[in-house]
Amino acid sequence: FRGRGRLSDGPRLGVMATDGAPSTTSAAVGNEVELAAAGRTTQGVPPSDTYLKESGHWIADFAEYADMYRRSVREPERFWTELAAREFVWHPSAAPTVGDALQANFDVRHGRIEVQWFRNARTNICYNAVDRHVHAGRGDQVAFHYEANDVDDARAHRAITYAQLLEMVRRMAQVLRDAGVQRGEPVAIYMPMVPELPAAMLACARIGAVHSVVFGGFSAESLAGRIADAQCRVVITCDGVMRGSKLVLLKQVADEAIALCESRQPGFRVHTQLVLRRVPERLPHVTMMPGRDRDLHQAMAAVDLSAAAAPATATTNGAEAVATDGPLLAADVEWVHAEEPLFILYTSGSTGKPKGVLHTVGGYMVGAASTFKYAFNVRPDDVYFCTADCGWITGHSYGVYGPMLNGATQVLFEGVPTWPDAGRLWAIVDKYRVTHLYTAPTAIRALKKAGDAFVKRYSRRSLKLLATVGEPINPQVWGWYHQVVGDGRCNVVDTYWQTETGAHMIVSPPVRGFQQKPGSAGVPFFGVQLAVLDASGREIPFQPGVESEGLLCIRAPWPSCIRSIYGDHERMESVYFKPFPGYYLTGDGCRRDGEGYFWLTGRVDDVINVSGHRMGTAEVESALLRHPAVAEAAVVGMPHEIKGEGICCFVTLNDGYDGSGALRDELVQMCRREIGPIASPDRVQWAAGLPKTRSGKIMRRILRKLAEQGKHLDVASLGDLSTLADPSVVDALVRDYVEE
Ligand code: PRX
Repeated sequence: FRGRGRLSDGPRLGVMATDGAPSTTSAAVGNEVELAAAGRTTQGVPPSDTYLKESGHWIADFAEYADMYRRSVREPERFWTELAAREFVWHPSAAPTVGDALQANFDVRHGRIEVQWFRNARTNICYNAVDRHVHAGRGDQVAFHYEANDVDDARAHRAITYAQLLEMVRRMAQVLRDAGVQRGEPVAIYMPMVPELPAAMLACARIGAVHSVVFGGFSAESLAGRIADAQCRVVITCDGVMRGSKLVLLKQVADEAIALCESRQPGFRVHTQLVLRRVPERLPHVTMMPGRDRDLHQAMAAVDLSAAAAPATATTNGAEAVATDGPLLAADVEWVHAEEPLFILYTSGSTGKPKGVLHTVGGYMVGAASTFKYAFNVRPDDVYFCTADCGWITGHSYGVYGPMLNGATQVLFEGVPTWPDAGRLWAIVDKYRVTHLYTAPTAIRALKKAGDAFVKRYSRRSLKLLATVGEPINPQVWGWYHQVVGDGRCNVVDTYWQTETGAHMIVSPPVRGFQQKPGSAGVPFFGVQLAVLDASGREIPFQPGVESEGLLCIRAPWPSCIRSIYGDHERMESVYFKPFPGYYLTGDGCRRDGEGYFWLTGRVDDVINVSGHRMGTAEVESALLRHPAVAEAAVVGMPHEIKGEGICCFVTLNDGYDGSGALRDELVQMCRREIGPIASPDRVQWAAGLPKTRSGKIMRRILRKLAEQGKHLDVASLGDLSTLADPSVVDALVRDYVEE
């Protein structure tokens, strides 16, 4: 397994003496035994007294957590149905009942993988995230404190209450309806982090449309691929935005992307583009295509909400039945089936173009909301701040749905953590009295590098809980987050999950009796049955005191599980379910220590994790190959101080081209243009030849080692190279390697 060993400087828990307990009992289900062992550890960092005193709690302690876990895996349908019925509003004539979930067994040998939860129930996630709080008298509560990019952009900074957000969402939903958007139809959203972005997502959900948010840093080519894949005929975008000191021209990119789609597919047309005017003072003349482009705010202002209360589908949606919950406001809500699609979000895989991961309404709602509730312990007076952009799954589940389903107050930040200086996050923490912060190790590393003075300049007294996501957190970085940012009094919560899982799979629950182990993601969340498989696909059972390492898999469906890859269900089955029938394959390697804690060791496939963002090496390779100078390219991850992993490209040039600095810059630009700035190569190495097997397969492990060790690479340490067509290629690669 390709564990990157980045955590080797962390506390290694050798084989520990068992306390004589039997390794597993036949009655145990899922990871019950692991949880029991974790509850007995004395090796970690317990929650501080201040945290336990200052923070509210949904559950008393880790024993209760373990008990809930036990119920969630022994009777998943009952557990989730009861939770779903208790915590959300469903259509009165179609509430979830036990027996509604189709318990797919993740075994491709038994037919199609078809996960369904609450399939006969009907709900609306927007209603649950917004309307419900307003009807319950919490309309004046702030939903978003919007912090614009520029500190002194007084006009932009504002608080938006749940009642105001509701009005915004209803207007936007009506604009979409007027544009002819149908239930089940995908809508592309290409926007910066402004309140209109979550509002657009919620507006789609409100009318049963399917949002496909594309990160505002992606190129026209990437956006075009996503618009075309889902055949989006409506695009919501923005004139431009300042990111740090840089003006990003989103509308221009969106126009280009639409033109690309239309030229490649005759007959396909984006008929409506809604444009938010975010920076009219900087971009006074944005070209609007007549008949297609509309000013979003003008369109929203023109909506007559009293008319909007009677949607075309009013007779079929049955909303009038929700009489006690505000029939008027609810009348423009589409009560969809739990298994109707909610969104598509593209993510990178080992091969081919990015996959459109499809999530559905009911299970995703239950997954995002329940993980948010129990992993973060956010209470009504708290202020929560997730730094992720809505263009990523973290922004979906923990920047929009999870917090809003729980009625939380959040900060929505348009800018970047290092602008105007590395104290920006802490300034925001003090400004809004943020209690909960959720960010990525890459950001923490960058801020740590900038020095403690930036942190110490601010009080940060309001902070209670610090959470991380996206990649393994190195124990030293964990220590800095805990000690310097949190002054040792906050609880640090790691959360491991993926675009495909929709919600947290492994968490370090912030409860009395659970000890955090720096660098370990923790233990499974409710309903998650983790399995560690050896290379032959055999499950390694947990034995207290014994450490094991292997592939991380999941044995049974959880509510927010991926339902399909948009337009290619077969691909979903092949990628995640066919390699080991009976299991969902995460693609991550992991170590499970003798106390049942899970430690992620990195991807085992050709996916690299750049600043917490997934990047398929194949995508970067195809971008490089578009350059006429490039004959062949192989891309691997390499250790990077801030990004976690950097992008290292080995490039063989066509005859007639020499590797120059100018050509290197052109290749970097090529990747930025084809994919986006996040795909900028950190290193380009010219290679006379690539190490290939006789069947032509590139042996990437050699390139990975080379990218890691450079000229110091000892070729003898690479092991058996006899399968290489030409083993001398390796010596040449080491010889020609240029240290940067
Ligand atoms: O490799 C794992 C890593 O990020 C991958 C998922 O990426 P993505 O779908 O973009 O979602 C990122 C945010 C959930 C995983 O396969 N990863 C995510 N969280 C962690 C992590 N690795 C270690 N520790 C984590 N907490």
